[in-house]
Amino acid sequence: MLRYLTGIQPSGALHIGNYFGALRPATELQNKGEAFYFIADYHALTTIHEPALLREYVRGVAVDFLACGLDPAKACFFRQSDVPAVTELSWILSNVTPIGLLERSHSYKDKLAHGIAPSHALLAYPVLMAADILLYESDVVPVGKDQKQHLEITRDLAVKFNELYGEVFKLPEPDIRDEVATIIGLDGQKMSKSYGNTIGLFLPEKELRKKVMSIVTDSTPIEAPKDPTNSAIVSLYRLFATPEEVAAMETDFRAGGIGYGEFKKRLFEAIWREFAPMRERRAELESNPDHVAQVLAEGATKAREVASRTMSRVRSAVGL
Ligand code: ADP
Ligand code: TRP
Repeated sequence: MLRYLTGIQPSGALHIGNYFGALRPATELQNKGEAFYFIADYHALTTIHEPALLREYVRGVAVDFLACGLDPAKACFFRQSDVPAVTELSWILSNVTPIGLLERSHSYKDKLAHGIAPSHALLAYPVLMAADILLYESDVVPVGKDQKQHLEITRDLAVKFNELYGEVFKLPEPDIRDEVATIIGLDGQKMSKSYGNTIGLFLPEKELRKKVMSIVTDSTPIEAPKDPTNSAIVSLYRLFATPEEVAAMETDFRAGGIGYGEFKKRLFEAIWREFAPMRERRAELESNPDHVAQVLAEGATKAREVASRTMSRVRSAVGL
């Protein structure tokens, strides 16, 4: 059976791009193999320096993930920092990591370009990610396109380590989610926290309505026919509505006589309806923090067992 592993950074409230691009695919994979999913809180330390905020984000991601269908009976769900061995492995891997490899990382360069101070941790980010992947002997790592280079680095480090010390690590295969459509945001660009154009997954009704009403549209008057092909409204509606509902909206766009506000209302209704069961589940989880803590504790116990087996081999291979 294949082992799937992926991490999600707790760096803010999740949005519907994260849902379709990461959460939903992950909950589908838990039925296909052995799933290891973790909240990458060590990684989040590279950018979040407020303890209360980090705790809040970690709690939020845990609850959102469970509400969206992660099943702890099928997937091992844990917090990265509950298995500190990963930092030990990261240190050991650092010794086979050429600095140049890290300096060429797109994500590192991007972060610097966005004004984040170049700390050692920011540079070493891919080494910790390699440690995540290799520690749990992952076969397949499903990630978005932006993580492709990190997986190449992981494979490079595993090969180098194995050449030097023998066949200790399994080489993971990336599963780049190219096929998952990029969900567009309120302004028609890719939905992303960094662009401030997101629709939160679990916004209260009023706020969700407000967000949807703020989708940017052109100034075509109510009476005039409208083009559904490039509309952010239609594009988002497709994710939530039935094919018949989408066809009806496209027809109404072309016919004219209906303003964008009305279409946005339909979109709002569809989003609200789609997430109703998950909202309910989320409310239950919110009122039962002990359950969430227990799920993560059980996940950590299982993850630690796998980690300690790998670490014995690694320590013995390098001479510790
Ligand atoms: P953000 O761009 O908001 O910072 P992240 O980079 O933290 O989001 O992404 C977390 C996960 O969600 C990744 O697996 C990424 O591929 C997925 N994801 C983020 N935004 C989108 C989007 N607009 N469409 C599809 N998937 C997305
Ligand atoms: N860097 C990944 C991201 O920002 C999160 C992550 C950390 C990860 N460790 C991982 C993803 C290991 C896959 C495997 O999305």
